[in-house]
Amino acid sequence: RGAIEATEQPAIDHRACGHGKIIMLGEHAVVYGSHAIAAPVPLAVRAVAQDTKSGGVDMFIPRWGVEYRLHRDPAHRDSFQRSLGIIFDELQLTERSMRIEVFPNVPRAMGLGGSAAMAVAVIRALDQHYKLGLSDEEINALAFRCEEVAHGSASGIDNTVATYGKPLLYKRAAKQGDAPMVRELHLPKRIPLVIGISGKESLTAVTVGKVRSAWQRNPALYDGIFQQIDGLTLQGVEAMQQYDLERLGDLMNICHGLLNALRVSSWEVEELVQIAREHGALGAKLTGGGGGGSIVALCPQNREKVAAAMRDAGYQAMEVDIG
Ligand code: MEV
Repeated sequence: RGAIEATEQPAIDHRACGHGKIIMLGEHAVVYGSHAIAAPVPLAVRAVAQDTKSGGVDMFIPRWGVEYRLHRDPAHRDSFQRSLGIIFDELQLTERSMRIEVFPNVPRAMGLGGSAAMAVAVIRALDQHYKLGLSDEEINALAFRCEEVAHGSASGIDNTVATYGKPLLYKRAAKQGDAPMVRELHLPKRIPLVIGISGKESLTAVTVGKVRSAWQRNPALYDGIFQQIDGLTLQGVEAMQQYDLERLGDLMNICHGLLNALRVSSWEVEELVQIAREHGALGAKLTGGGGGGSIVALCPQNREKVAAAMRDAGYQAMEVDIG
């Protein structure tokens, strides 16, 4: 099911990596203009750039067995190359001769922001190596372009957390080109969670596309669901800031029900959610794109028990604190 290694938070060198993330409340609805709450997790993607004499841009991701020469002509790139290729086009580096090695500690296609973290890590590696002097805003904007290719209609929340590595409330701009609303969330205490990883890979582009076609068939019905998610997300901000975990857990449970109504859950995700609740989690929900991927469970008292039960059922579990 793919090894993951938790990197202790202080060991993450912010300037050289892209952060993985969870979404506490508001995924999918955020694509349609609702609020969402996201936070970084102690998993990150790191990348290193080196000069070579090979005559092209060579990308290596040893853990995934990925190795390719970037096609100079965007028309010849596959979907993976197309997303990261934008970085080299925009920074006018496609003619250079280099090797990029990527160390992905965020598991692939598990709803933990791996694609955005990878884009940010590659941009930061190039920024450092070629002394481009990019600001975080520029890094974030470029990573968003990659996400748009990877996800279709990305809201921009994943690249924002991958870049800044802070818990935040996010709302996309109403008009294309305008800046989104991004508010850093300051919590009185860190919130203890278990991330349950289903092992079922799922592409966010696919679940976002499924929700879009359902919305197109009945916009009024789905807009109502997005509005409910928006309302509970804003209540979630209050609950987190007041450290009212019982209320936060309720909101997570309801949010999961609404995500289930959007049909972005899966058999494995439902099993993980049930395990978490049965072992005393105050709230449990899928996180990110769904369709597989991961769940988050709020477990202030019984974290080890919840994590152990997930592992006993054959899943991976990670205990993390956010805030
Ligand atoms: C993916 O982490 C979150 C989604 O809402 C997609 C997006 O916001 O781009 C499913």
